[in-house]
Amino acid sequence: MKKLFIKTYGCQMNAYDSARMADLLAPLGFAGAEAPADADMVILNTCHIREKATEKVYSELGRLRALKDEKEKTGGRMIVAVAGCTGQAEGEEIIARAPVVDLVVGPQSYHRLPEMIARIARGSGERVEADFPALEKFDALPEAVSGTGVSAFLTVQEGCDKFCTFCVVPYTRGPEHSRAPERIVAEARALSARGAREIVLLGQNVNAYRGTDAHGTTWSLARLIEALADIKEVLRIRYTTSHPRDMDEDLIQTHAGIAKLMPFLHLPVQSGSDKVLEAMNRQHGADDYRRLIARIRDKRPDMAFSSDFIVGFPGESDQDFEATLRLVRDVGFAQSFSFKYSARPGTPAAAQKKQVAEGLKAQRLAILQKLLLSQQDDANKAAIGRTLDVLFEKPGRNTGQIVGRTPHLQPVHVDAPAALIGAIRPVRIEALMGNSLRGRLI
Ligand code: SAH
Ligand code: SF4
Ligand code: F3S
Repeated sequence: MKKLFIKTYGCQMNAYDSARMADLLAPLGFAGAEAPADADMVILNTCHIREKATEKVYSELGRLRALKDEKEKTGGRMIVAVAGCTGQAEGEEIIARAPVVDLVVGPQSYHRLPEMIARIARGSGERVEADFPALEKFDALPEAVSGTGVSAFLTVQEGCDKFCTFCVVPYTRGPEHSRAPERIVAEARALSARGAREIVLLGQNVNAYRGTDAHGTTWSLARLIEALADIKEVLRIRYTTSHPRDMDEDLIQTHAGIAKLMPFLHLPVQSGSDKVLEAMNRQHGADDYRRLIARIRDKRPDMAFSSDFIVGFPGESDQDFEATLRLVRDVGFAQSFSFKYSARPGTPAAAQKKQVAEGLKAQRLAILQKLLLSQQDDANKAAIGRTLDVLFEKPGRNTGQIVGRTPHLQPVHVDAPAALIGAIRPVRIEALMGNSLRGRLI
């Protein structure tokens, strides 16, 4: 038996890919290792979204260098692979900069790992695979086995054609492609047969999903969700990440009509300033976003929203930043992620002259995060005293405790038997502790 250690950075799509790589390498005799030191093969599944994410990869490679040297001294071996978005973006450069790396594979070509491993065993051949063979990967992968808890990720759409001026994803994940609906439904059935009760549909632009079935009919995300809702064992459905431009009437209606579709939507807006949104190439204004939120709330009044924000985009003035704060106050987010703008090589925004000073970015980020956190706190406090349906996912830290989530994705700790893991039960919410709720079964 050989041992494999996969370290995952970045978004849920990478988490899904890491599980698929584990499934792919299992037939080669690779089982999971506890730590990189025990592993015969280490894969870093990397993220390239901000400079910090990329730096992390290189510092981890430094640590692996020492481990690999140690192993080789005692006659052992360790294969080091870089997968994911940094692998795609930097390719050969990674091997030049970190010779510890044996092979590099991009997010659309990791199904070729077995042949690459065979090649390096022979000591010959290409060590970098970074093309975009449209969806060939999904045909080559075995059935999803790893990484399937009560809540399971399922990638339905890959890549991005939007080209926001700050973002590397269109270059690292390639053009937009949707998987065939039949394949997705089959994968959801297989996941639910293994105990998944919540399916989280993933895509860089998941609401732009347009899959073609065997009859040549195109399915929207709304239609796909309806089909998945027919699977009895699937109790909850979520999807992420959506672009405001692709939030069509159909999908909004699905939130009203399909009870299994959770009333929570991650809908990144990035900024509240029209000038900045335009410079970002987001293809919508701040008021378009406000109207969209109002339309969704009209159909589904209990809908909760989360967003991503970037502060300090090139040319962002105090007034632009104020406009972002205004939008946040107008909408009210249950949860959010916010980042300082990071200039990424090769993206249009990185070449702009009016970059915002780091100190000012940090100040704006602190102000925005304080506001977002207070909104999150309010949303959590509003749950206290209410009875909410909780899907239990796993044991809690304390014995006798299990943890689940509300429809709004809030974690809830409850004293209850482990047998309830995988089931939905009404829970009376009693208190807020940090970011998670405490409740009791009723
Ligand atoms: N497809 C998603 C987002 C993918 S990246 C969407 O369209 O919203 C996740 C988040 O990272 C983005 O929403 C954005 O807020 C942030 N991000 C992307 N590029 C960035 C950069 N260069 N600097 C800082 N944050 C960035
Ligand atoms: Fe990046 Fe924009 Fe595509 Fe999202 S929509 S992945 S932010 S380019
Ligand atoms: Fe990072 Fe790639 Fe995801 S850049 S956020 S791992 S799509």
